[in-house]
Amino acid sequence: MTDLPARLAENARAVAAALDTLLPRAEVDGVRCAEGRLLDAMRYGSEGGKRLRAFLAVETATLFGTERSHALRVGAAIECIHAYSLVHDDLPSMDDDDTRRGRPTTHVAFDEATAILAGDALQTMAFAILADEATHENPFIRCQLVACLAKASGARGMVGGQMIDIEAERADAPLSLAEISRLQRMKTGALIEASCSMGAILGQASAASRRAVEFYARDFGLAFQIRDDLLDATGDAAAVGKAVAKDADAGKATFVDLLGIDGATDRAALLTEQAKAHLKPLGARADILRALADHALTRAS
Ligand code: IPE
Ligand code: IPE
Ligand code: MG
Ligand code: MG
Ligand code: MG
Repeated sequence: MTDLPARLAENARAVAAALDTLLPRAEVDGVRCAEGRLLDAMRYGSEGGKRLRAFLAVETATLFGTERSHALRVGAAIECIHAYSLVHDDLPSMDDDDTRRGRPTTHVAFDEATAILAGDALQTMAFAILADEATHENPFIRCQLVACLAKASGARGMVGGQMIDIEAERADAPLSLAEISRLQRMKTGALIEASCSMGAILGQASAASRRAVEFYARDFGLAFQIRDDLLDATGDAAAVGKAVAKDADAGKATFVDLLGIDGATDRAALLTEQAKAHLKPLGARADILRALADHALTRAS
């Protein structure tokens, strides 16, 4: 049995504890440092959330028999990148959102300059975590982890996707299905895929097993973003912890915009089945990943 809710909760607790240890403190022995405001904003921006990317990394690594302390550091590193992406995504110059994870966004709680700097510092902190010996004794594995996360976060991954997302708001013609798929695979899918890739790297999985979890993550990532878009269209702001009903007015290129609620719902369901089918070679030990895909399809937050 895969007690998904319990494992999600336990993983979220462990990742939060790892981040609490890793994040620098504004006050040490009663003395507050000059850059304290930045450190407070980093903590603030990285608190809360479902910790789903860390979960993917930890559970994938566990599948391949990795030491838990290593997996948790990798999970924490991915969550730093994810948190930075959200802090910047919410900025007035991007999606201009005031609420995130059920409380004021970082630039509202602090200010815009501090939020930009906190995002920057969370990003570099992710790579510092991965490059540290405590993440893995083998420097070649550490290098692979760094390269994987850098590629997924950058111009051909999350950041590139964010660029297309913003530009699509101003485009004369709507994006095609193929273009929206590519945009979403980059802005959201790349980090989700990297979460599984990093779990496989850490667990030194065979090429075939690594491919299986990466294909899973590719389809799961797209289904996950479609669900996010559906929650924007139909969800409850209090439950999701952020503003809803914004994408259509902003002119966002989404599957909901192109296919409607029912069409987008069907596509997410199909992608979820596809995602799970990719796990076949891994047998029952991948059940937790199958359960996660099903859960994400109907999630309310
Ligand atoms: C929100 O991601 C942004 C997307 C890429 C859809 P999550 O829904 O995983 O956000 P948190 O981490 O739980 O807040
Ligand atoms: C954000 O997508 C994806 C990122 C890379 C941060 P959204 O803009 O749809 O995410 P939410 O809805 O604000 O969480
Ligand atoms: Mg956005
Ligand atoms: Mg947004
Ligand atoms: Mg959204």
